[in-house]
Parts: sequence; C-alpha cells; structure tokens
Amino acid sequence: MTTLSEWLSLLLRWIHVIAGIMWIGDSLLFMWIDSHLHPDPQGRREVAGVTWLIHGGGYYHLEKRLLVPGRLPPRLRWFWLEATTTWLSGFLLLIIIYYLSADAFMVDRAVSALTPGQAIAVGLSMIAGGWILYDGLWRSRLIRPPLAALISAVLLAGVIYAATHLLSARAAFLHVGSMLGTIMAANVWVHILPPQYRMVQAARAGREIDHTLGVHAKTRSTHNTYLTFPAIFLMLSPHFPAIYASPLNWVVLSLFIVFGAGIRHLMLVGPRGARGTALATAAAALALVYLTVGPAPGAPPPTNVTAPPFVEVRAIIVRRCAACHSETPTDPDFRAPAGGVRLDTPAQIRAQAARIRARVVDQRNMPLGNETGMTDEERAALGRWVDAGAPLK
Ligand code: HEC
Repeated sequence: MTTLSEWLSLLLRWIHVIAGIMWIGDSLLFMWIDSHLHPDPQGRREVAGVTWLIHGGGYYHLEKRLLVPGRLPPRLRWFWLEATTTWLSGFLLLIIIYYLSADAFMVDRAVSALTPGQAIAVGLSMIAGGWILYDGLWRSRLIRPPLAALISAVLLAGVIYAATHLLSARAAFLHVGSMLGTIMAANVWVHILPPQYRMVQAARAGREIDHTLGVHAKTRSTHNTYLTFPAIFLMLSPHFPAIYASPLNWVVLSLFIVFGAGIRHLMLVGPRGARGTALATAAAALALVYLTVGPAPGAPPPTNVTAPPFVEVRAIIVRRCAACHSETPTDPDFRAPAGGVRLDTPAQIRAQAARIRARVVDQRNMPLGNETGMTDEERAALGRWVDAGAPLK
C-alpha cells in the first residue's frame, strides 16, 4: 500500500513538474518575444512586429500578426493543455499529500486549535476565495490598475498573515502557492482563451475584430508571469523547514513574493529600465537572508547550561521519535526511517543534535504533527542537552 501511494505521488509530481515547465516556459517565451519585437521593415499594417531567434542550427523569423477579418491561418495551436494539466495534477497532489494526512500536515497545535477538517476548509477557501477576490477587483471598472495592484498586495499580505496563523507553516506556504497557481490557471481559462476565441470567431465570420479583447487577455498573461516565480518558490518550500518555520514566516513569505516578482520584472524589462525594482528586489533578498539565517529574535544565548543525563535524552527519543526515526519504524506510515533520519544509537542521536534542536526546540515541527505527544519539558530538556554540547554521559 505504502509503495503504491509513493508511486502514485511520484508519478503525479512528475506530471505536475513537466506540465508546469511547459506552461511557464511557453508563457515566458511569449512574453520575451512580445517585449523584443521590432517594427516590420516592410511596414505592413497587420504585422505588429518581427524578431529573429536562433535555435537548432537555424534562424526563426517570427512575425506577430494581428487578426484580420476573413483571414485565418491554416493551422492554429492553442495553449490550454499545459495550464490545465498543471492545475489538475497539483490539486490531486494537494488532496493526496495534504488532505488525506491533514492531521500531520495541515494542523499545528502550536499555531491554532483548528481540527483537520477545519484546516482543509481554510485551505480550500484560500484557493477559491483568492481567485474570487482577485478577479472581482481587476474586473471592477471603478478601480484603476495602480490602485488595484496596491489593493491586491495588501489583500495578499492579509491572506498570508491569516494562513500562517491558522495552518501549519508548511501547509500555509503551500496553500498560498496553490492560491497563486489557481489564479494563474483561472486567468487562462476565463480571461486568456475565451477572448482570443471570440476574436478568431470574428475573423472567421469576416466581422470587425475587437482588439481590446486581445489587450485584456495580455493583461492577465502579464499578471501570470509575475505570479510564476513566487508560486514555484512556494511549491518547493515544503522541503525547507528552516525557511517556512522561521519565527516571522509570514514576513519571509511576503518578501519572497516581492523577490520573485521583482526578478521576473528585471528579467523581462532589464535592470536599466527598472532601478526601483532592482533596489526593492535586492532589499527583499537581504531581508530574507537576515530573517532566516540571522539571530532568532528573543532566543537568549545559552550560558552554562547543565545537560540532562544522556539516559534521559535517549529515553525521550525512544518515546517520542523512534516510531518513525528507526531502521525499522513501527509507525505503519513508514517502511524506512522517516526523512532518512535514524535515531537508534547514541552516535546517530549525537550526529543529529543540531537538527534536533532546530526541529524540536526552535521550529517545534518534530515530532511530525506531534503524533507522539511530546511535552514542553521534554523539548526543553533536549534543547539543554544540545546547548551543552550534546554529551553522551
Ligand atoms: C510521526 C512520524 C515522526 C515522528 C514521531 C518524528 N518525526 Fe522527525 N521526521 C518525520 C518525517 C516524515 C520527516 C521528513 C519530512 C520533514 O523533514 O518534515 C522527518 C524529518 C526529521 C529530521 C530531518 C529533517 C531536517 O530538518 O534535517 C529530523 C532531524 C527529525 N525529523 C527529528 C525528529 C525528532 C528529534 C523527533 C522526536 C522528538 C521526531 N523527528 C519525531 C517524521 C517523524
């Protein structure tokens, strides 16, 4: 059973990553082409611009042509499968990994008292509600784009704050990522494909073409490219506990969105056109480094700590960790030591001392979902033992 579910989740991740690469790769390439089009040397009215690329030993001469009533290309490739596959595989992964083990992955009693069911409801409302709010805001004719961007940023920060104060840190990061990914996919389905479809229909029928439809689709594509880099960071973040579990993790998450979106802007616009963005991106990077590797706020430096005797440390590990972190785990969910970490012998325990302090004392996200009911006194005892140099006596 375990092997079957591992195969399933490996296969789904594989599909998810490949579809995501294709989706994002296409979209970045089109954005790049659009921002590097030169005026048509022949001055044709239906040609919005031309550019040359080299690949595979040949030149590609690209022309961006506007739609003309009554004229259609013989074959037209639509880009919808990549976004759809990425979203569907991502949503399935969310169910299999997070919702089916909501007790371990969605809730953290040190963060909030939500039940697993309530935590799933929070996650799903973020995914659906994020889109409804974003779309409503950008559809509204009253609010102009600079203000809409500001309101979007404030709302996003609010959602991030709420998520990190309701869900386990890794679930909060992943759900902000899923929310951004859903906005991107929904933009493709609702605002990018249908207007283009209406334009092609008009061209086919020989009717006048409403080019504002294309401008509208392009706005949403542009939003998507700004969300891409932050979303990918958030999808990878569950593998990096020290980052998602840092004390001010909602600030870390927000800064990463600034950083990712800033990098996207610099990549396509170039640093010369965007001094302010370059500065903001660099400042976000510095702040991130400070918050995640700098001194933990409020943690007093250890002075003259007396270590509990090692027999006591070992008894705690056997009681609270061995079910998952042993050569032969007794927890039915694991057939091999969880996360590859074995805590069977004194030497193995000592070798993990720094990571034990990080996960059990600082981040408090081990034992996983505190399934083994570890107490605060036990955490403190392990902390004192590590701070005293992890002695084996
Ligand atoms: C219910 C199962 C379970 C229990 C109980 C458990 N862990 Fe873990 N542990 C995991 C899993 C799964 C991973 C890998 C995923 C991760 O890193 O979050 C892991 C990873 C780790 C890592 C390696 C990751 C890193 O950050 O370097 C350490 C160290 C660790 N656990 C320590 C402990 C300690 C110490 C205890 C007991 C106080 C404990 N764990 C109890 C399931 C468990």
